Amino acid sequence: MSTPGTSTPLAFVDDELAALRARGLYRWPRELAGEQAPVCVYDGRRVVNLCSNNYLGLANHARLKEAARRAIDVYGVGSGAVRTIAGNMAIHQILERRLAAFKRTEAALLYQSGFTANAGTVAALLGKDDVVVSDELNHASIIDGCRLSGAERKIFPHKDIAAARRCLEEARGARRVLLITDGVFSMDGDLAPLPQLTTLAREFGAIMMVDDAHASGVVGAAGRGTVEHFGLHGKVDIQVGTLSKAWACLGGYVAGSRPLVEFLMNRARPLLFSTSHPPSVAATALAALDLIEEAPDLIARLWDNTRYFKTGLGELGFDTGASETPITPVMIGDESEAMRFSDRLFEAGVFALGIAYPTVPRGKARVRTIVTAGHTRDDLAQALDVCGRVGREMRLIR
Ligand SMILES: Cc1ncc(COP(=O)(O)O)c(C=O)c1O
Repeated sequence: MSTPGTSTPLAFVDDELAALRARGLYRWPRELAGEQAPVCVYDGRRVVNLCSNNYLGLANHARLKEAARRAIDVYGVGSGAVRTIAGNMAIHQILERRLAAFKRTEAALLYQSGFTANAGTVAALLGKDDVVVSDELNHASIIDGCRLSGAERKIFPHKDIAAARRCLEEARGARRVLLITDGVFSMDGDLAPLPQLTTLAREFGAIMMVDDAHASGVVGAAGRGTVEHFGLHGKVDIQVGTLSKAWACLGGYVAGSRPLVEFLMNRARPLLFSTSHPPSVAATALAALDLIEEAPDLIARLWDNTRYFKTGLGELGFDTGASETPITPVMIGDESEAMRFSDRLFEAGVFALGIAYPTVPRGKARVRTIVTAGHTRDDLAQALDVCGRVGREMRLIR
């Protein structure tokens, strides 16, 4: 430890880093050389990549690259300002209209990221006289939005409808109540019980909000998300999506009613105080949306690969938890064992991230895998072979 009065004001940074290293929690991400792809080079090693959210394999698609190049030629490289000042470009609005149509809502509003869409929206909607009722495994951007809002937080155990009901009962009398859930939970790959939550929200007059970051372009027959999957169009007040995952570029959005969008444009701080997307990002997202709408076989291929890989892991004897989507965790439990499994996989040619506390609860460490539509059967067969071999060597499976 540094001695007070004798160290620089940032000496605590060294102390914190030393503590992280001592607990085996220090991280520095692996470096990707070249493009994001199903098989690519990280830290100088060619690996099957099971870590990206590039669900549909669009990150290096020729049509998206061409759209970005064309937008730079036509509109330049930057929007020049915050959206609400002078950075509201026509292409942003075109994308919003297309996203609203895709999500079957009246309107949509772009944010710079999925993170700011969640945090900015929750913080704009709620204040200290309000209550937010939130699943314990909701994404950090929702948690931060709840904190920023100053609203009272009531957290219910994961997917526990009875507990959510109790929270809503306790919230009676608050000025506003928001019931919020991830659509697909990012560390477990399971789906929210959205029909039951939506019914509860109706019963208690709460606003229903779902974060479909991992569901948009992935879940539902046309990839419209959990609202489509559960047949809930028109019943969920606020849907958040990202453009950073299946859309393979960057950004987030809220889809909902026109008044909601107008309210957020006037109140959400990321829109009031942070510059809007470069036009090439909006053009890339439009090209991705074209492909998603034109080629449903992309989503079908993602799910084919998901079934193949998930079944393969199960047959090898791995526990894949409660996953129902392309996010498939290999549950390990012990934290250092999960990290060692991830490292050994990497050495053998498979990149799958070890995830431990505090990202997931203690004792629930895992190696998370995500397949994409871009993986070939050979890529996935090779990955399964490596998982099996390393798993047996480490006595995780027999
Ligand atoms: C569930 C969930 N919501 C929101 C986000 C944030 O999205 P973005 O990366 O577009 O900021 C993520 C992850 O990145 C996520 O996993």
